[in-house]
Amino acid sequence: MRAFKTVRGMRDFLPEEAKMMKYIEGKARKTAELYGYREIITPVVEPYELVAAKAGEEVRARMYAFKDLGGRKVALRPEFTASVARLVATTLRNEPKPLRLFCVGSLYRYDEPQKGRFREFWQSNFELMGSEKTEADAEILLLTNHFMKSVGLKNYAFKIGHVGVLRSILSQEGLAEETQNQVMQLMDKKLHDEALKLVKDAGVSERCLDTLRKLVGLRGDAAAWVLKEMEKLVKDYEKAASAVSNLGEILKFFSESAGEISVTIDAGFARGLEYYTGIIFEVYVPELEIALAGGGRYNKLVELFGGEPTPAVGVAHGIDRMMLALQEQKTNLTAGGEKTVMVIPVNESLNSKALKISEMLRAEGISVETEVMGRKVSKALEDADRRGISHVIIVGEKELKDEAVVLRNMRKKRQSTVKIEKLAEEIRQDSS
Ligand code: HAM
Repeated sequence: MRAFKTVRGMRDFLPEEAKMMKYIEGKARKTAELYGYREIITPVVEPYELVAAKAGEEVRARMYAFKDLGGRKVALRPEFTASVARLVATTLRNEPKPLRLFCVGSLYRYDEPQKGRFREFWQSNFELMGSEKTEADAEILLLTNHFMKSVGLKNYAFKIGHVGVLRSILSQEGLAEETQNQVMQLMDKKLHDEALKLVKDAGVSERCLDTLRKLVGLRGDAAAWVLKEMEKLVKDYEKAASAVSNLGEILKFFSESAGEISVTIDAGFARGLEYYTGIIFEVYVPELEIALAGGGRYNKLVELFGGEPTPAVGVAHGIDRMMLALQEQKTNLTAGGEKTVMVIPVNESLNSKALKISEMLRAEGISVETEVMGRKVSKALEDADRRGISHVIIVGEKELKDEAVVLRNMRKKRQSTVKIEKLAEEIRQDSS
């Protein structure tokens, strides 16, 4: 047989990385609990039409789409939002609002593999359904801030914009939604000149072009100043002006409740996903050029899927990228002296006793690895040392006569004889 490798863009997670991913996932779940989001589990395979509907050209072109054996056009989900909106439009349509839903799992996009960009990746996803209020937008920003902080990330910053500003101007100038989507895609890729050319070719006014050009260059971390400049620029566009004031209100809530946060307001910020109608945002760390999280308001998607008109706002956090950022920042997640115990019988006749002692300790909540290789004590000890085991229990006939074993602290290289009934207590108390 030839030696197999993983498919390009797919990865194995070895124990250390798997542990880190699960650690981050655990913090996401804790965040969900703290903010009242209930977990749902949706299928990896969805109808193509559903996930393609508002995904935007970029994601649509990179979907794992195929016909199943029944001839249905399906796709591996490239994101969660369409699945959650499908549920809210159908099974959950009569649920009282607000509806706070959380999911976590793997997503699939045929992106070009590079640092932090994979074809299979993981998100924790939060959707708040049924409120059009700015408090709801602020909640999504606040829980993202809480989550980032709780995993131990440092120096992360929010980049915030509002699609309502650009789209309202384009609508008032009579640009069809299809063209607007193309403009947004180009802006998302920072191809501003191409975006402006497209707008110009669509026959908009000089005033519009001038406004857009200035908006695209307008960004900064002095929120009040950027907002004032935006207000001035869009004063002739009524809906765009109300989008700016909507953005201002959300930012006020966010900054007043979040404590120390770093925010850049970007007037020309656009995202590839087409369903956004209001605030949009991403989270970055200085160590990586790619976003750790992305989200925003989307008020029309549930309706598009046949549900009641349901304003909504949400976010997805890239778990893989958060892990990468933690690694880049050299955050030590295992700090706190974890204890893992190894139980080694001195000879084969004591195997059963070793298994029994292991079970007894596990029942007390202590992680135990039993020696199952039949190695000599010295060899097993070498292995325990190499793998960072904190305590070893040596089960020998002499001590067993007194219902005792030898307990060795591997880090301090110190050992003593301990009664079996006192073992768990002794291990817990012994600082390693
Ligand atoms: P998104 O910006 O497409 O938004 O993805 C959110 C996050 O998923 C990104 O910021 C990134 O961390 C991670 N991500 C995306 N693509 C990849 C990839 N190829 N490899 C690794 N990580 C990746 C959404 O998915 C929206 N559904 C967010 C949302 C929820 N909006 C409203 N509700």
